[in-house]
Amino acid sequence: MRKKLVVGNWKMNLTRSEARAAIESLLLLIEPTTDAEVAICPTYLTIDTVAQLFRRSRFRVGAQDVFWGNAGAFTGNVSAAMLKDVECHFCIVGHSETRGRFGKLEVPESTIPYFSETDETVNLKIKALLYQSIHPILCVGETLAEREAGNTDRVIQSQLKGALEGIEGAEFWEGVVAYEPVWAIGTGKTCDSAEASRVCGMIRASLAEIFDEETAEAIRVLYGGSVKGANAQELFSQPDIDGGLVGGASLIAEEFSKIVRSV
Ligand code: 13P
Repeated sequence: MRKKLVVGNWKMNLTRSEARAAIESLLLLIEPTTDAEVAICPTYLTIDTVAQLFRRSRFRVGAQDVFWGNAGAFTGNVSAAMLKDVECHFCIVGHSETRGRFGKLEVPESTIPYFSETDETVNLKIKALLYQSIHPILCVGETLAEREAGNTDRVIQSQLKGALEGIEGAEFWEGVVAYEPVWAIGTGKTCDSAEASRVCGMIRASLAEIFDEETAEAIRVLYGGSVKGANAQELFSQPDIDGGLVGGASLIAEEFSKIVRSV
């Protein structure tokens, strides 16, 4: 039986003092006995602060990205070994924002190539994380144009195949896949729960092809994209949705705890 997982992706939000206040509220609001596994992925600069506050709790800390090299001349980057050193349990890879596939553009189109994480670099990052026993949260999802062209399943299958190339099922057993339709991120438009469940089921079937049935049954498949207190229960009660990857709503302790309680 897969344990439900709720992950807050704080993106580029909250200074150390703001993060401390948010975590202290969360620890008061979320029952230590909650059935769900809960994780927060803050910015690199606040991972250590959050990890220390979580030390005597069951909550996990994660990162939002990683570089695949061990160490060296990679200005501005952080390695998986460094994430391990600050007690990261999870790490997001392949988020549509780091892939440069924004739902609504807030940057000039000419700057997008600078974000451009690819299936190939996502694959290298996953391998680097697994080497350090950090569980990857692999994000996949289609843009609005891809959905409207009827290419949703094809795009996601190709992202999965590329990202998981050369990785054994036994290595990815505790890995996580998050279905995040690009058009639902930060837009307030949630994917219909039946459709979200269908896509998560399709992801599990693809994982069974890439690995095997047993591994696919063990991997948790989350939904992300405008998850909030009001829609979490409906989404999480779908058979193929094992929890959520939550952006904006994870910054508000009351709202995030409501999402966790709805598991
Ligand atoms: P929102 O919950 O703000 O739509 O963001 C989802 C997301 O991108 C989580 O990784």
